[in-house]
Amino acid sequence: MENTRARALDGISARWGVDALALANEYEESDFARWYADRLGTLQAILGPGRMGTSERFGCELLYVLVRAARPRIAVETGVLYGASSGHILAAMAANGQGELHSIDLGTCSGEPPYNFLVRPDLMAGWRYVVGDSRRELPRVLAGLGQIDMFYHDSLHTFEQMTWEYEIAARHLPPGGVLASHDVVTADGILGIFRENAFPAFCRRRGLNPLLAHNTGVAQWPT
Ligand SMILES: C[S@@+](CC[C@H](N)C(=O)[O-])C[C@H]1O[C@@H](n2cnc3c(N)ncnc32)[C@H](O)[C@@H]1O
Repeated sequence: MENTRARALDGISARWGVDALALANEYEESDFARWYADRLGTLQAILGPGRMGTSERFGCELLYVLVRAARPRIAVETGVLYGASSGHILAAMAANGQGELHSIDLGTCSGEPPYNFLVRPDLMAGWRYVVGDSRRELPRVLAGLGQIDMFYHDSLHTFEQMTWEYEIAARHLPPGGVLASHDVVTADGILGIFRENAFPAFCRRRGLNPLLAHNTGVAQWPT
C-alpha cells in the first residue's frame, strides 16, 4: 500500500505541479481528518460488521489530495451513501477557499444513518444533494451546470453504468478537467473477471493516460 500511495502522490504532483505529499500531510494533520476518524468510528458502531460500503481510508485521502491539487470550482459526483467521498471533497474545497459540489444518490433507507452522516456540518454550505437515479438526475444536473471541472463516479459499478456516466460527464469537462472514479479495479460480477474494468477501458478509448491507485482512478482531459 505504501508504494501505491507514493506512486499516486507522485502522479498527482507531476500532473498538477503541486507537492502532493505535503497535501497528504496537511490532510493527516487536519482537524477534519480527526473529526472524520471519530465520526467513522461512530458509524461503524451503529452499523456493526454488516453493511458498510463507505470509501476506504486510502480513497478518501486521495480524493482530498486530488481536489486540493486540481482546485475544481464545480464538481459533480454520483454515489454518496453516508457522505465519505462528499465530505472529503468538501473539506478540500474549503481548504482551497472555493468550490461547490453536486452529489447524486438514490438515497438511504429509513432507519439508516443519514446521507450526510460523514459530512462535517460546517462544510455543507457548498453542497447540493440530489436524490434519484443518476440515469435520470445526472443529465439534468449537468445540463443545469453547463461546464464542470471535475466528475467523480461511485454509484452503481456495472460496466454499462460506469461507461454511461463517464461518457455524459465528459461532454461537460473542459480541457484540463478531472475525471475520477472509484471501483476501477473491482470486477463487475463473474463476467467482469474476463473483461477490462470500465474506467481503464474508457480512458484507453479516449486516449487518456489514467492514474490507477488501489481502487481509485484519476484522469485529466487533454489540455
Ligand atoms: C459505494 S456507495 C458510495 C460510497 C460513497 N461514495 C463513499 O465515499 O462512502 C454506492 C452508492 O451509490 C448509490 N447508487 C447506486 N446506484 C445508483 C444510481 N443508479 N443512481 C444514483 N446512486 C446510485 C447507492 O445508493 C450507494 O449509496
